[in-house]
Amino acid sequence: MIYAGYTLKKNSDEQYTPAYAVAPIIKYIPGNKIVWCPFDTEHSEYVLALKAAGIRVVHSHILTGEDFFVYDPEEWDLIVSNPPFSIKQKVVARCLALGKPFVLLLSNLWLNSSAPARLFWEKEMQMLLFDKRIQFTEKNATYFGSSYFCWKVLPKQIVFENLNRSRYEESRMADDMKKYVGTLSASTRRGRTEPE
Ligand SMILES: C[S@@+](CC[C@H](N)C(=O)[O-])C[C@H]1O[C@@H](n2cnc3c(N)ncnc32)[C@H](O)[C@@H]1O
Repeated sequence: MIYAGYTLKKNSDEQYTPAYAVAPIIKYIPGNKIVWCPFDTEHSEYVLALKAAGIRVVHSHILTGEDFFVYDPEEWDLIVSNPPFSIKQKVVARCLALGKPFVLLLSNLWLNSSAPARLFWEKEMQMLLFDKRIQFTEKNATYFGSSYFCWKVLPKQIVFENLNRSRYEESRMADDMKKYVGTLSASTRRGRTEPE
């Protein structure tokens, strides 16, 4: 595994999706397609839930040397993930340029800007809305709602789903990230470029 020389930047970009927020999207993913999770490690709840549903998955992450803006896997049919929110617009633009269906979990705060409205109008982007907020951290109640912003995936432009949560649940990807980041800082201290 190659360290890409990337350092984690914003906390808002390092919020890992809990399993209960992944579950409602799985039934909309065609079982015969290959899903690419481009912001995800092995134990991302997207990767785990898609595999459990018998769907083929490839995953990549900037810390394993696969920058979403320069890399794409050899074989894939649609993207499913929660991308870094600070670069959402660039991510959506690249997804549209790649021309394949996508499902991106994004904050509803994005709807305050005019860009998504244009995309819903011109590109017929779709939305899956939840009845509750996703809780990303244990400490503070999340003050924004999140939705799946999709293209060519949902049966209609707006779909509603319930979130089946009662308390904070941590994504198993959080442990992967602790391992990568912990190992990377140890390696960096020893002047190495590859984590053990
Ligand atoms: C909001 S987190 C979500 C992680 C995971 N998709 C999930 O839902 O649990 C986004 C992740 O993308 C990573 N990332 C940031 N820029 C990236 C890039 N250019 N290419 C691939 N991954 C990137 C961040 O380090 C972060 O771990």
